[in-house]
Amino acid sequence: MNRSEEQIGVGTLELTEAEKKGVMEVLESNRLSYGPKSRQFEKEFAEKHDSKFAVLVNSGTSALRIAIACLKETEGWCDGDEIIVPALTFVATVNVVIDHGFIPVFVDCDAQTYNMDPSKIKEKITNRTKAIIPVHLFGQTAELDPIMEIATQHNLKVIEDSCETMGVNYKGKKTGSFGDISCFSTYVAHLVVTGVGGFAVTSNPKYAEILRSLANHGRDGIYVSIDDDKNLSEERFKEVVRRRFRFVRPGYSFRLTEMEAAIGLEQLRSLDVMIQTRQKNAHFLIDQLSQFNEWIQLPSYDKSTHEHAFMLFPIVLRTESKDDLVQHLEEWNIETREMLPLINQPVYEHLNIVQEDYPVADWVNRSGFYIGCHQGLTEEQMSYMVKVFADFFSKRSLSVSSGASQALPVN
Ligand SMILES: Cc1ncc(COP(=O)(O)O)c(C=O)c1O
Repeated sequence: MNRSEEQIGVGTLELTEAEKKGVMEVLESNRLSYGPKSRQFEKEFAEKHDSKFAVLVNSGTSALRIAIACLKETEGWCDGDEIIVPALTFVATVNVVIDHGFIPVFVDCDAQTYNMDPSKIKEKITNRTKAIIPVHLFGQTAELDPIMEIATQHNLKVIEDSCETMGVNYKGKKTGSFGDISCFSTYVAHLVVTGVGGFAVTSNPKYAEILRSLANHGRDGIYVSIDDDKNLSEERFKEVVRRRFRFVRPGYSFRLTEMEAAIGLEQLRSLDVMIQTRQKNAHFLIDQLSQFNEWIQLPSYDKSTHEHAFMLFPIVLRTESKDDLVQHLEEWNIETREMLPLINQPVYEHLNIVQEDYPVADWVNRSGFYIGCHQGLTEEQMSYMVKVFADFFSKRSLSVSSGASQALPVN
């Protein structure tokens, strides 16, 4: 077997003619700030997620930041209140909680989906708990029904961190339409990719107005775009002129340009096809790699109730550390990434997290990594990937491998 000259990456980007044309239209229109492309992108993104409003911002992190700020303002949350987060997620989910003065309370993950385990939430609820942030990791929807039920019982808000999935259903309903506010990312190697970008989505008109204001320096919601003082009745025009330089809350500058919106709008229109291709690729890999089931855990989920966008393809070694296999794949030019280790990050040392209290996250941190299954992969590349795995497992005896004694016994 020859080493692939081209790296087989975790993500892909190939800008289409339609996307380039969209950007050219923006450049020729001499309009970079929030305008028709952004407005249309928001409209179609909200519709795609069965929601009334989508506020376009410059990242998924910004979306999370304004989501929490909005609920802090409307619900009267105080510094030191608690927000429940999964023990496995990208650092941004937790950083925004801490930045807003709240305490992140971690819940361990399910050993099969790696998403927050709903059966472990209730024991973490105190009289200071205000919200739950379920995260749909790697493209897989979190277990939303029990999470929403617990939230209702305990009067908690729900912010879906949907930065790793979009356009998929959970029990027939769109992920992103369950929470009070849901946050998406369009950063590179995600699904719809605009370079940087994100959305805060909601069906609550009050939240939508506050979110838009927060992303625009806390401006009075009457004027957030340079079009907002055009084509108005005389009376309304007077009102807009009077209020358009009022700032009603401390806000942020989280805006995006029309160029990203032009790219995203076109990609959104082919999202379903993109997801279908990713699902097909993922199922090819699951099918082919299942011969190594004794050693690795592959993605598995109930297709009758859950959809998986397969932003990424997570793999966890059942009993040993990931190090040797990751090294082997990298040497053969297959890109890998860690499966979002969180609770062992130096930045959270001050939280004194006891790793052993989160056995599933701890296992994934030691033994989990992901590879790509994106729409840019060819069948030849995927067959090559399978051969590289086969080469690894044929060459070595796993019984003597490092880290085995600390592994979580699953299945
Ligand atoms: C789960 C999760 N939340 C939040 C973010 C932050 O998104 P962004 O990079 O657009 O700020 C990411 C990004 O990768 C993510 O994976």
